[in-house]
Amino acid sequence: MVGLKDNQLRVGMIGYKFMGKAHSHAYRDLPFFFDAPLTPVLQALCGRDETAVKAAADRFGFASFETDWRRLLERDDIDLIDIGTPNHTHAEIVIAAAQAGKHILCEKPLAMNLQEAAAIWQAVQGRDLVHMLSHNYRFAPAIQFAKKLISEGRLGQIYHVRAAYLQDWIMDPAYPLVWRLQKEVSGSGALGDIASHILDLARFLVGEIASVCGMMETFIKERPIGEMAGNLQAVQGEGSGSVDVDDAVAFLARFENGALGVFEATRFAAGNRNKNKIEINGSLGSIRWDLENMNLLEVYFDQDEPGLQGFRTITVTEDIHPYSGHYWPAGHIIGYEHTFLNMLDELINGIADQRQVQPSFADGLRNQAVMEAVQRSTVTKSWVNIADLLQEVGVSLN
Ligand SMILES: NC(=O)c1ccc[n+]([C@@H]2O[C@H](COP(=O)([O-])OP(=O)(O)OC[C@H]3O[C@@H](n4cnc5c(N)ncnc54)[C@H](O)[C@@H]3O)[C@@H](O)[C@H]2O)c1
Repeated sequence: MVGLKDNQLRVGMIGYKFMGKAHSHAYRDLPFFFDAPLTPVLQALCGRDETAVKAAADRFGFASFETDWRRLLERDDIDLIDIGTPNHTHAEIVIAAAQAGKHILCEKPLAMNLQEAAAIWQAVQGRDLVHMLSHNYRFAPAIQFAKKLISEGRLGQIYHVRAAYLQDWIMDPAYPLVWRLQKEVSGSGALGDIASHILDLARFLVGEIASVCGMMETFIKERPIGEMAGNLQAVQGEGSGSVDVDDAVAFLARFENGALGVFEATRFAAGNRNKNKIEINGSLGSIRWDLENMNLLEVYFDQDEPGLQGFRTITVTEDIHPYSGHYWPAGHIIGYEHTFLNMLDELINGIADQRQVQPSFADGLRNQAVMEAVQRSTVTKSWVNIADLLQEVGVSLN
């Protein structure tokens, strides 16, 4: 493991817009709420534009900045590399960071495609480092609580997973052709951007997916050129170009444990700003969750008294609920940014205890295999087995 100085975890972060801001905020707030075994130190922020990265470093509280991520990897005062750059940069940076012996937190999706994800996976094998993929929604207290209920068998045998990630921020045809809509930068559209999150939730809560059959569509095929400008805003440039990623994706899945899954991800669901929702039905009951009401978990238990049966809503903010005791009294709700704090707490404890955390790059690889299978099945109009794809790239995860 990287030798840690004075119980500090010195962070070198690459990218300083949407995720850069979310992660920086979480490192800063972590010591307020958690007795973490290591104190995160915002050591250096990296971006290509010197004026902009310096301004962001000042604002977020970083001690220094770099304009080339390779320089960040050479520094011996950095323990953890935190990657919040577009998807086409992930593989090169992660593999170099692994070779430099740094701990790594990488934003999702892990890679552009399965081949790259497998190369990343190989690069971290046998190295003394902790790697984590930033699927922050796993760390919503209600999701962790749902996991506990399912693990205890309270839903019985799982029959159905119904998950949807619905957004509407690119519906306007004038919304520019930002990196998220360019295959050579993003790898895919709604699939890698948001279906990856519900896939991760479903795998976390229910188990591995065996096969999928999907469909994808691009509704608006030409857009003005433009760039992301923080959060999901964009600025328009000159000219126009073709959209070569999916605006929407839907797929059916068979889980290894026999459950059936129905997944949908789109950025064309008018009125749904960030509707990340999942419902799971088992032989003894059900759970339902929705990010826009993330403190609530709906549960139904078949063994409740006849006449009083029905879904009830638990506000997952009691001290006995996962993570909730770190924040406020019961009913004093938390928000989106706290999912990142909870995730970083897991990462920092993993690094301190010298144990691998989850979701790891193994999860990233499995998610990527499912996404690749969805893409292939869309072309072949047939079911695709995940195990066959993992075998193709020479990876055995069991
Ligand atoms: N976990 C989540 O919920 C979540 C949410 C949004 C985005 N993401 C993921 O986070 C990553 C970044 O997305 P974002 O929304 O923050 O994008 P963004 O466009 O807001 O920011 C990207 C940042 O990367 C920088 N950058 C681009 N290329 C670079 C390079 N070669 N070297 C150094 N810096 C470079 C940009 O200057 C910018 O600071 C993506 O992989 C995305 O899928 C995850």
